[in-house]
This record gives sequence, C-alpha cells and structure tokens, in this order.
Amino acid sequence: MTDTQQPPCLIALPGNEPLTRALADQLGADLIDLEYRRFPDGESYLRLPDAIKGRRVALVASLDRPDDKIAALLFTAELARDLGATRVGLICPYLAYMRQDTRFHPGEALTSRSFARWLSAHMDWLVTVDPHLHRYGSLDEIYTLESEVVAAAPALSEWIAESVVRPVVIGPDGESEQWARAVAEPAKLPWRVMAKTRAGDREVRLEVPDLSDLEGHTPVLVDDIISSGATVAEATRLLLEAGFPAPVVVVVHGLFGPRSRELLRHAGVARVVCTNSVNAPESDIGLSRLLLPAIDRLV
Ligand code: R5P
Repeated sequence: MTDTQQPPCLIALPGNEPLTRALADQLGADLIDLEYRRFPDGESYLRLPDAIKGRRVALVASLDRPDDKIAALLFTAELARDLGATRVGLICPYLAYMRQDTRFHPGEALTSRSFARWLSAHMDWLVTVDPHLHRYGSLDEIYTLESEVVAAAPALSEWIAESVVRPVVIGPDGESEQWARAVAEPAKLPWRVMAKTRAGDREVRLEVPDLSDLEGHTPVLVDDIISSGATVAEATRLLLEAGFPAPVVVVVHGLFGPRSRELLRHAGVARVVCTNSVNAPESDIGLSRLLLPAIDRLV
C-alpha cells in the first residue's frame, strides 16, 4: 500500500493532545503516541513506534513559549524521518517569532528569519493560524516549505455575533486593522482602528479615532495577540474614559505573559476570549473546523 492509501498519522507534542484528538477524529487520521520525557540532566528522551514507516506524518505543536518546545519538536521531526515517514508536516496554530521581523535597533537578531530556516529545514509543510504578518507580506518571504495560513476571523465574528449586543469592533493599533476589518466587514459591524506608539515591551501610547457616532455600542477590542496585555489595557482605559461600557476583548492568540491578566482586570475589561491556538482558560473559540481543509490539502 502506498502512503496516500493509508490515513495520515497525527502526533501531539506535549500539551497539544486535545486539539490533536479533535483533528484526528475529524480527519480520520491515526493518532500516534510520542513517548517524551526529560532525563535527569534535562535532555530530552523521545520514542515513536516503528509503525510510522512509510506513512505521512503531521506533528501538532503550538509554539507559544517556543524556547521550551523547539528542541522536542525538531527531534521528533527528525525521528519520524529516521523511522521512515514519507512526509512530515507541522500543524502549528500559534507560530512563534513572527514579530521580530525587522531590526528595530542596530545589532538585533532577526529571529523570525532564523526560526523560519529551522522549521523549513525539518518540515515539508506548515499549517498555521493568523501569523503576525506585518512587515512580511506572506510566510513565503522567509519560509521555504509549503504553507497555508488559516484565518480565525470567521470564528471570531461568529462568537461576537452570538455573544455581544450592538458591537463595534475596535483594533487597538494599525497592525490590528487586518483582523478588525476581517471580523467586522462580513458581519456588517461598524469598526475603527486606534494608532499605537510602543515605548517599551510593556509601555504603549494609543490615539483614539472619532467614535462619536457609536454611542450605545459595546466596544469589542480585536487583535491577533495578547502578550504583556499593555495594548489592550491601554485601549480599555481610553474607551472607558470616552464613556463607553467595559469592552469585550477577542483575540486570536492568548499568550498571556506574566501579570497580563491582572493588568487587564485592573484596566476594567468586561471579558477576554481567545481561540484555542494556545491552551488557556480563556480559549473558548475552537479552531479545528477551520484548520481541517488546509491540513487535508497539505498532509
Ligand atoms: C502588535 O504587534 C500585535 O498586534 C499586538 O497588538 C501586540 O503583540 C500585543 O502585545 P501586548 O499585549 O504586549 O501589548
């Protein structure tokens, strides 16, 4: 039997088991267990069954906090090939290191390019969700593997329509315009974008556009990422100051750095919701249905 006559094999990297099970069920793929542990000295031990010989393999690994995860991922990809997998791809709902897309200061590492080279050297294909494409037009500018980008906007739009009364979608900075527009326009919701200047990792200044015609609406802050929480917290402060009710925050990737949740609570957000691209208590918006067609094409 050729590899395409057999179902693909899905392998969860540690922490990605729930999404992997959901995808395997819907794709009719075989779930393969990765045995993974750390030796006492901190190095990784990995083992896969010989049964992946001659099979197509998809690894499932979301890469939030990537420095703890990348070694295991690259070891697993090499092991799968060593054991005879014919094609090895990566389902990576959150793709890390996309924000270091330029040298903001002389001498800084262009980690987006280094990271893209590492993944491209080990994988045949990549499916990801809303990577932070700002100064790069597409993943192909830095990745040399086959890739597909899945947009979470339809799922965010649906959640907002079901959960928020009279919403106005607000992107907290210029970079979020693409997400605000994609969420608002298909649902025919009003939308606006703020302007941001970043003064440091946790310090931002925002300018609010004219919102005078939107009285009586509930602001919904839509962005791709919450990291320090500074962007959304400052946007919330300004919306409350402008007399709006507490905003609902809807983001694709909830990275939630240290103290970000306290910051958001103190700023006065009504609720924070994100997709399950990253496992977090706020991950109420499922992505598996949106991921399936792209995986099906590339696997
Ligand atoms: C900006 O590049 C992104 O779209 C987000 O606005 C940003 O990453 C959020 O970061 P933080 O939560 O640290 O303000």
